[in-house]
Amino acid sequence: MAVGPIVLIGFMGVGKTSVGRAIASALGQSFLDLDEAIQLAHGPINHLFSAHGELHFRALECAALANALTSNLGVIATGGGIVTYPESLQLLKGCSQVVWLRAPLALVEERIQADAKTNRPLADTNLGTRFHHRQPLYSDCATTCIDIHRQSIEEIAQKIINGYR
Ligand code: S3P
Repeated sequence: MAVGPIVLIGFMGVGKTSVGRAIASALGQSFLDLDEAIQLAHGPINHLFSAHGELHFRALECAALANALTSNLGVIATGGGIVTYPESLQLLKGCSQVVWLRAPLALVEERIQADAKTNRPLADTNLGTRFHHRQPLYSDCATTCIDIHRQSIEEIAQKIINGYR
């Protein structure tokens, strides 16, 4: 088994949290979702964006990632925009297991619309632009990429687990 946590990255709606929980539970390891950690410490994400702006959120996200990476966790799920903040990207590049859950734009659009999750202030009309801007950033720090199309949470989790046995 490789050293360090399995860190899940990828665009909004690809299932990082669900897959992360499934991997951690199957491996009997601890799991942290960075969005959840930020919300617990600082309040709702929507409010953080509206009251203080995206850059403030990115700095909190970076601090949460840095903290998570020193906490001996098994699996970490990140928010979809974490790669846009250079310091966070650098931290991710220093991790030995960064799994990019990749999906086509049409699929994430469909999922974001269907998903009742309310903490996505950036699920707006610029979704396509954001999506294309981020693809090379995910690619830049990922050590593995999994195309999630037509696979269940369990199938994706199992693939990741098999890859790290
Ligand atoms: C964001 C994605 C969200 C959350 C925040 C910003 C983004 O997380 O961190 O709303 O910029 O893509 P999910 O990827 O879990 O939806």
